[in-house]
Amino acid sequence: MALAEFLQQLDDLASAAEQAFGSADDAESVEAARVEYLGAKQGRVKAVQKQMGGIDSTDRRAAGMRFNEVKQRVEAAFQAATERLASGGPRVQRGPHFDPTLPGTPVRSGRLHPITQTIEELKDIMGRLGFSAAEGPEIEDEWHNFEALNIPREHPARDPLDNFYLSAAEKLAGDSPLLLRSQTSTVQIRVMESTPPPVRIISLGRVYRPDTADATHYPMFHQMEGLLIDRHVTMADLKSVLRLFATSYLGGDVHIRFRPSFFPFTEPSVEVDYHWNDQWIEFGGAGMVDPNVLRAVGYDPEQVIGFAFGLGVERLCMRRHRITDIREFYKNDVRFLHQF
Ligand code: DAH
Repeated sequence: MALAEFLQQLDDLASAAEQAFGSADDAESVEAARVEYLGAKQGRVKAVQKQMGGIDSTDRRAAGMRFNEVKQRVEAAFQAATERLASGGPRVQRGPHFDPTLPGTPVRSGRLHPITQTIEELKDIMGRLGFSAAEGPEIEDEWHNFEALNIPREHPARDPLDNFYLSAAEKLAGDSPLLLRSQTSTVQIRVMESTPPPVRIISLGRVYRPDTADATHYPMFHQMEGLLIDRHVTMADLKSVLRLFATSYLGGDVHIRFRPSFFPFTEPSVEVDYHWNDQWIEFGGAGMVDPNVLRAVGYDPEQVIGFAFGLGVERLCMRRHRITDIREFYKNDVRFLHQF
């Protein structure tokens, strides 16, 4: 046999043996590799050694030296595998190499919708002023949405074109028509009907009006209603509460302005503005609760008095975050939502 061919066989043997011992990860496979390569009778090292007889005598010395080297490599691989198993130490790597220093894949966590976050914050601020949160249904009857709020049958606010009335089939038999509430003032009535004075509540929730959506209108939006009923309450108290609220939510010392207005459920009624970046910005409506409303819920207007207010939640959140289009809130575009 030619020397070159023999040396090639030795190289192949060495790498095959190192591969076999290197990947053996239990005692049985180490033993199997030992028998295959180093077995005294049938081992592959032995078999290659036997072929040395067929090498030219001039090349035999070189062949013998390489053979000894390879035999030592195979024995060293066996030794290493035995020690590795004995120490229980580093297991054989299989599959792709794992690099623990590479940065991980960030987990994208969800978050609360900006309107939900705003509602939580408003509850928190008003909670510190002693107002607890009350809730009411989004499907209302005409009594709670209009009648008890001093909005009589012929009042334009009750126009079917300005409200989402449910179809006749959906109303309860013999009862008043139902509608999606157009204002959270309904909750004032529900609270006063079920609790004696004094009352100090806010109510935050959705209201519905058939408006065409544009940058400042949406057919569904959120309001914060406030109601305080007690023995001695004045418009100065109303102004203080709204000013403290605005200062907490918008930061800094925020000034409040009242402009005369009209709402059926308050007398007197005001529009509330706050001063922000050298401008007066509309905040919402407010006033002293009309005696007719107190009477409707069975309170005695000679004994108790109070104030109420209603503010748009989206508008507050938009002002705070400089959002210019209300529709952004309801597109469910995560690129927008992820910023809050
Ligand atoms: N309900 C009114 C609206 O939706 C807002 C409002 C005005 C609520 C005056 C009040 C109030 O409680 O006193 O436009």
